[in-house]
Amino acid sequence: PLCFARNQIIPSSEATLHPMDIGLIRGYGIFDFFRTENFVPLFLTDYLDRFIGSAQKTYLPLDFNKETLRNIILELIEKNDLRQGGIRMLLSGGMSDNHFSPAKGDLFIFCEDLMFPGEQKYTNGVKLSSIEHVRALAEIKTTNYTFPVWLSSNWKKEGAEDVIYHHNGLISESSRSNIFVIKNGEIFTPDQNVLHGITRKRVLELSGSIKIQPIGFDETLAADEVFMTSTTKKILPVTRIDDRQIGNGKPGKITKELIQAFQEMEQ
Ligand code: PDD
Repeated sequence: PLCFARNQIIPSSEATLHPMDIGLIRGYGIFDFFRTENFVPLFLTDYLDRFIGSAQKTYLPLDFNKETLRNIILELIEKNDLRQGGIRMLLSGGMSDNHFSPAKGDLFIFCEDLMFPGEQKYTNGVKLSSIEHVRALAEIKTTNYTFPVWLSSNWKKEGAEDVIYHHNGLISESSRSNIFVIKNGEIFTPDQNVLHGITRKRVLELSGSIKIQPIGFDETLAADEVFMTSTTKKILPVTRIDDRQIGNGKPGKITKELIQAFQEMEQ
């Protein structure tokens, strides 16, 4: 496949990053990730806005404006014949004299294969492992996922799909997804210490009455339904947290309705 690197479209195998880039030696960089459906990059404007916002918030200069990025992406989709796939935009922290300060990084745009969770996970729901944790700079899409990558072997051992973070009794999100909680027909999602997911934004649009407010970890365990949202999972029901069953242990009615409505929105 082709990618964008070194300011041009080149074979992905020829993309390189200097080992002294603080993206590598300090874990400082930003990215974003979206997907195509029938060659159309879904909700692209939202992802571009978030990517450009992440660059600004991390003090990383980005030489490309929204229109230029969009044109590069459309060219890559066409040249790679990317009917259904993922696209990753990545901006490294760059190389600085003190090997620490943000500098001028390299921009990469890659096309990737996309693997959604198996059908069974949507029909049965998945388990999350809880962990007391609060993410730094949660609202910025940084490349720093050291903690969840490190955790992942543990949650796999516990048979969990992923984690749910909580702090001071309040939940925030999963390692790469947002969380929604349903109780007595009302839908809630937290706003503190979370990345503002584009899938989360779509779900908020699908149901105008979702309450954006702090949610207790205990309330989450006692919820009727819980689901997670992300670009790579869409809307995935959560039916277990640690050793606790959520609701009746099956994907709930409201979750299923939202999955259906989201599917229609994608068409
Ligand atoms: N993850 N929260 C975090 C910390 C994330 O990394 C992501 C996305 C989300 C969901 O955002 P969106 O709906 O825009 O995908 C929430 C991507 C998919 C990843 O790292 O693979």
